[in-house]
Amino acid sequence: MFIFNDKDSLEAFLNPLINQKKTIGFVPTMGALHEGHQSLIKRSVAENEITVISIFVNPTQFNNTEDLEKYPRTLDQDIDKVKEINDLILIYAPTVEDIYGKSPIAEHFNFDGLELQMEGKQRPGHFDGVGTIIKKLFATVKPTRAYFGEKDFQQLQIIKKLVSKEKLPVKIVGCPIHRASSGLAMSSRNERLSADAKEKAAFIYKVLQEAKEQFQQRSAKEVIDFVYTTFEKEPEFELEYFEIADEETLLSCIEKDPHKKYRGFITAFIENIRLIDNIALY
Ligand code: PAF
Repeated sequence: MFIFNDKDSLEAFLNPLINQKKTIGFVPTMGALHEGHQSLIKRSVAENEITVISIFVNPTQFNNTEDLEKYPRTLDQDIDKVKEINDLILIYAPTVEDIYGKSPIAEHFNFDGLELQMEGKQRPGHFDGVGTIIKKLFATVKPTRAYFGEKDFQQLQIIKKLVSKEKLPVKIVGCPIHRASSGLAMSSRNERLSADAKEKAAFIYKVLQEAKEQFQQRSAKEVIDFVYTTFEKEPEFELEYFEIADEETLLSCIEKDPHKKYRGFITAFIENIRLIDNIALY
């Protein structure tokens, strides 16, 4: 197992391989690895000669100190989970100082408005933090391909935008949401749910599936109303938002356009844990 804690040693290892034109697959994570991450890692291993995973809880993308403090940090278990897949994967687990120097500050980005919708509205500055860390990590790892889950669909679109605006030589690969057998989308935050809440949280996906079915016949407004009314009957949940938006622009669907692809995006709390999910509505 190759574990690097600083970018200089990772670069010293990678640069000769890059010079030999080896393909590098990259899976950026914040750790607390689950089966969703494992499926991204397996895909990278299948498609590239070398795979690098970063494990770094990025402070600049948290707009809530408590959320940052409580974010699960499980490096030893994460290393074991990577070993289960393959012993030759490179793990980059840097310190905050290695990434940011003395002061962790985010760069400010214009992602053509993608950053102003949904998660961007609820978590001001979040996507500046994501853009900053991804740009820094890509500069160090110089990946051929980088893998991201569609659970964070807005993040995925923003990273594609970052790559196109900054003309970065990397292919972004979006991977389907990995779900537990109950339907609950895999997330590091699920670790913090009680067994009971984990079971109940599968309700989020059930509502999304029902919304998808309804969207074939009904207007966006009717489907949105249905989701809000359904959540009102479930006092254990607090629905932060449900939106139907165009996949490309992430702008809300006011009137259906048959040429556009829409997705339903949801964020809800259970046991004070914020869970996000989405579903293609086509
Ligand atoms: O999705 C995540 O885990 C993080 O936002 C990412 C992409 C690793 C950046 O810190």
